[in-house]
Amino acid sequence: MLSRISQLGARLVRETRAAGNLSSHSSNYYRGLSRHSAPAKSILFSTATTSSHHDEGGDDKEKISVTFVNKDGTEKTISVPVGMSMLEAAHENDIELEGACEGSLACSTCHVIVMDVKDYNKLEDPTDEENDMLDLAFGLTETSRLGCQVIAKPELDGVRLALPAATRNFAVDGFVPKPH
Ligand code: FES
Repeated sequence: MLSRISQLGARLVRETRAAGNLSSHSSNYYRGLSRHSAPAKSILFSTATTSSHHDEGGDDKEKISVTFVNKDGTEKTISVPVGMSMLEAAHENDIELEGACEGSLACSTCHVIVMDVKDYNKLEDPTDEENDMLDLAFGLTETSRLGCQVIAKPELDGVRLALPAATRNFAVDGFVPKPH
């Protein structure tokens, strides 16, 4: 019995090699495989076992503290899992950050202002696409970013982000509107 199985295995290997050399005959290859489907089944079984194991225990993800400063000056501090965008975090916590295009870099409504330049410098440089969209943002500042492109990472723990309408009050250092 065992030797028969090993003969079948050897035959399968030969057929596999032949099929690899003659890709135009791939349909014959698949017909051949279906006759010897036991090995394929065992591969599928082991994959399924591994993936179900990964589904457990995803709860201990590292989180950072992020403070959003609203247009009216009120603040809300939330915990954001590392890897999550500030746009997603805002939406999960009922913070008024619009994000009309849902992170596909086709709007500027997720505009946020990083309030501390030290935090701003910890971010990856914006891509050309992000810069193009930022150019359209209302109240653009030196530390403006699109919230959907700012991803939580440990170094950003404690970061403070202002929502755009607040820029008129405090985000541009020393700016005082001139009376007409
Ligand atoms: Fe549109 Fe961020 S949600 S660019």
